[in-house]
Amino acid sequence: MSDIFDTTSISGMKLRNRLVRSATWEGMCEADGRPTKKLANLYRTLARGRVGLIISSYTFVRPDGKQMRGQMGIHTDDFAQEMKALSAAVHEEGGVIAMQLVHAGGLASPPAGEKCLAPSAVESVHYSAVPREMSQGDIDAIVDAFGAGAQRAKEYGFDGVQLHGAHGYLINQFLSPLTNRRSDGYGGTLENRCRFLLEVYRRVRDAVGTGFPVMIKMNGSDFLPGGVVSDDAVYAAMALDGEGIDAIEVSGGTAASGDQSPVRQKIDRREQEAYNLPLAVRIKSSVSCPVMVVGGLRSFDLAREIIQKQEADYVSLARPFIREPWLAKRWEEGDTARARCISCSGCFKPGLKEGGIYCVVDKLEGESKGEAL
Ligand SMILES: Cc1cc2nc3c(=O)[nH]c(=O)nc-3n(C[C@H](O)[C@H](O)[C@H](O)COP(=O)(O)O)c2cc1C
Repeated sequence: MSDIFDTTSISGMKLRNRLVRSATWEGMCEADGRPTKKLANLYRTLARGRVGLIISSYTFVRPDGKQMRGQMGIHTDDFAQEMKALSAAVHEEGGVIAMQLVHAGGLASPPAGEKCLAPSAVESVHYSAVPREMSQGDIDAIVDAFGAGAQRAKEYGFDGVQLHGAHGYLINQFLSPLTNRRSDGYGGTLENRCRFLLEVYRRVRDAVGTGFPVMIKMNGSDFLPGGVVSDDAVYAAMALDGEGIDAIEVSGGTAASGDQSPVRQKIDRREQEAYNLPLAVRIKSSVSCPVMVVGGLRSFDLAREIIQKQEADYVSLARPFIREPWLAKRWEEGDTARARCISCSGCFKPGLKEGGIYCVVDKLEGESKGEAL
């Protein structure tokens, strides 16, 4: 029977357990996207904490696809040294790291006076301003930028890449009829709305070749009237599976989805945990590649049950690893008490102002056991 501490492999990437640190923006890079030593130290700590797979923060493939302060960029060769230091820090601790690639599209933060690029120039619950509709040239250039980013990630020692297809960013904007009103080959039918995603996937695959993991994080549903629904997600997942994607991480919601956002709060009871599991189960039953589930996982027993019942192949967590980067080690060593994260999302704020995220509750309570590592 499958279990959490099985060693597995995804397209040659060997993982020491089935626990994944889901992509988490840390706000620890310089203004131009250059990684810092602080970020390398965080990844080192996570690897030392024995999480199976670390997925990096969402990393912009072009400057016009950047959203947040301190976000990492893979648009240039200039950061080669720092990027190699990140992957080396993880490998020195026996860990594995994949880079999450993103273009934020209509959710990007362009310089004053400039408009974001997006599938269509429409108002939407997602955007603060009407974006500029992407031309065919823009589409081709961004597809190329994903390929170039993936190639750099591979060159710099990352063990895989993950496309960010979830949470309302550019790939999701093409999938969603709310943000994609195009009348050309990229809009209208579901097949057309998937075209950009598949072009990105193919370009990335061409750039890194077979035998190097290319994964995706996608929404099983946007939980928004008129947005991506479960049937759309299953179709897209099956198309990617048919083309050879190596793993699909299933999330749900966007920042505009209210209580059903990707980062739900107040996960106090077991019934509130694993809130994207039904979506992941549906996708898992439709594809042959491994499936990861993310969103509100807190209890070891539930995580184990999901793996044992084969509802998903991997369980991904984000906020619990901010409070307890050593959570996997703790669980592996037999202390299987629930993750101590209280799902308040207070970790975002210091990322915006103070040079990087941390658990504000842990800091207040002074309970950090980081020195133990
Ligand atoms: C501070 C913070 C930053 C995040 N950054 C990203 C990101 O860069 N890419 C991404 O796909 N999801 C991001 N997320 C969402 C998480 O990966 C995850 O999907 C969500 O938090 C639910 O998992 P959790 O309940 O285990 O935190 C972020 C979440 C938090 C709290």
